[in-house]
Amino acid sequence: MGDIKLTWLGHSCFRIDVEGTVLLIDPFINDNPVATLKSEDLYPDIIAVTHGHRDHLGDTVEISKRSGCKVVCIHELSQYLRSKGISTEGMNIGGSIEVKGIRFTMTDALHSSSIDEACWDFDGGKAAGFIVSIGNIVVYHAGDTGLFGDMKLIAKLYSPDVALLPIGGRYTMDSIDAALAVGMLHPDIAIPMHYNTFDVIEQDPIIFEKKVRSICDTKVMILNVNSSIFL
Ligand code: NI
Ligand code: MN
Repeated sequence: MGDIKLTWLGHSCFRIDVEGTVLLIDPFINDNPVATLKSEDLYPDIIAVTHGHRDHLGDTVEISKRSGCKVVCIHELSQYLRSKGISTEGMNIGGSIEVKGIRFTMTDALHSSSIDEACWDFDGGKAAGFIVSIGNIVVYHAGDTGLFGDMKLIAKLYSPDVALLPIGGRYTMDSIDAALAVGMLHPDIAIPMHYNTFDVIEQDPIIFEKKVRSICDTKVMILNVNSSIFL
């Protein structure tokens, strides 16, 4: 432990740094009211996108065009990004790929995935989550999702060390549902995301923390934007 740096950039956007390789997940930066960086500040090697909604696909096109990084995403989104000249690694739920030493397994998520950037009805395939494996550290980014029972299967198959879970409600799980998710996943660390970015997903993360404490011994880490933990 200690060689992997995980940074929250606000909303569902995380940056993972490992041995000089930079991974961005769901890089919603420039229109993100809580982000303080600009997409131009970022030169990742890989971007992983959970689904086509604007607050997840975000600045993927700009960043990948400029940095030349690969974009890991579901097949339909991959086709769309390729049509824009972007280098992609398309995949689908249940499959795994390895890019620059980082292994991605795509998981289910209970959510929709139109590509907002294209137009409201452009099919983005299915919404997904990612199991990101770096050496023996496993991070589960749930994407946008409602609570689903197969999180137990995700726990059994991948034993995540860290779970990044939406708690904002309305479009995803709220604090209580997300705490139940922690109970199924039983990671060492749970980090709330996808809350307080907009008024409609206002949520007190302390409610999440307290509920988790009543269920299991997972440590909840409530991050500030741009703050990091080391794994
Ligand atoms: Ni969404
Ligand atoms: Mn979202």
